[in-house]
Amino acid sequence: MKKLAKIAAFLLAAVMTVSAAGCSSTKTLADIQKSGKLMMSTNAEFEPFEYKDGGEVVGIDIEISQKIAEALGVELEVTDIAFDSLIPALQSGKADLVAAGMTADEERRKSVDFSDPYFNASQAIIVTSDSEIAGPEDLADKTVGVQLGTTGDQYCTNEKGENEYTVAEVRRYNKGMEAVSDLMAGRIDAVVIDNFPAQKFVENNPDAIKVLDTALTEEEYAIAVPKGNTELLDKVNEVLASLEESGELDEIVGKYIAAE
Ligand code: ARG
Repeated sequence: MKKLAKIAAFLLAAVMTVSAAGCSSTKTLADIQKSGKLMMSTNAEFEPFEYKDGGEVVGIDIEISQKIAEALGVELEVTDIAFDSLIPALQSGKADLVAAGMTADEERRKSVDFSDPYFNASQAIIVTSDSEIAGPEDLADKTVGVQLGTTGDQYCTNEKGENEYTVAEVRRYNKGMEAVSDLMAGRIDAVVIDNFPAQKFVENNPDAIKVLDTALTEEEYAIAVPKGNTELLDKVNEVLASLEESGELDEIVGKYIAAE
C-alpha cells in the first residue's frame, strides 16, 4: 500500500512536470502555420475596438488581427471572453495573441509581452447630462462604475494610494455597458472607462450622458503575446509597422472613429 502511494506520488509529480513544461513551451510561427489558424482572444464589449454587430465580432482590433493572420497565411479565429480572462488565456496557450484595446502597463508586462503601441488612449469620466460632477476632483465622495480588471478599475481602486484623484466607492462590472446602464438608472454617479468607448456610449445615448473634458490617465494600447514568444512578437511588430507606414492603420481606424 505504502509503495503504491509512493508510485502514485511519483506519477503525479511526473504529470505535473510535463504539464508545466507544456505551458511554458513556446508556440513557433511554424506551429501556428501548421495549425492553419491564429487564435486571437478579446472581450467584445469595447466599441469601436471590439464589439458585436449582429452576432459577429467586429472592430479595429479585429481588423488589425486579420492583417496579422493574413501575413502568416492562416485564418483568424476570434474568441470573445471576459476581460480579466485574457491574460490567463495567453498563459495557458488558449490564445496566441490578445487584441483588446489593452493598455501596455508595467503590471501586465510581468505576465505577457506587448507589441509596439498602436493607439493612444486615456481614462474618461462619463456622468449623466444633468450631473453636478464637473471634474475628477468631484469624484471624492461618489460611487464610480468600472469594467472589472481594466486600467479604469485600477485607477479608481487606487491600491497603492498614489493617484491624484480618489473616489468613494468602486463598482465593478463585467461589461462597460452594464456600468453605463446603472449610471443612467441613477444607481451610480459616474463611469470611468477608456475615452473612445466612452464617446461611443455617449453617441448612443446623447441626451442622457456626457463625457467630462478632463481625462484621468494617458495610456497606450498594444497587442499582447505569451511571454517570451519573441518570434511572434517580432511578426506582430512587423505587421503593425507596415500598416502604419502604408496608411492602412489610419484607414482602419477611420472606418470606426470619425476624424475630428
Ligand atoms: N484599456 C483598458 C485596459 O487595458 C481597458 C480595455 C478594455 N478592453 C476590452 N476589450 N474590454 O485595461
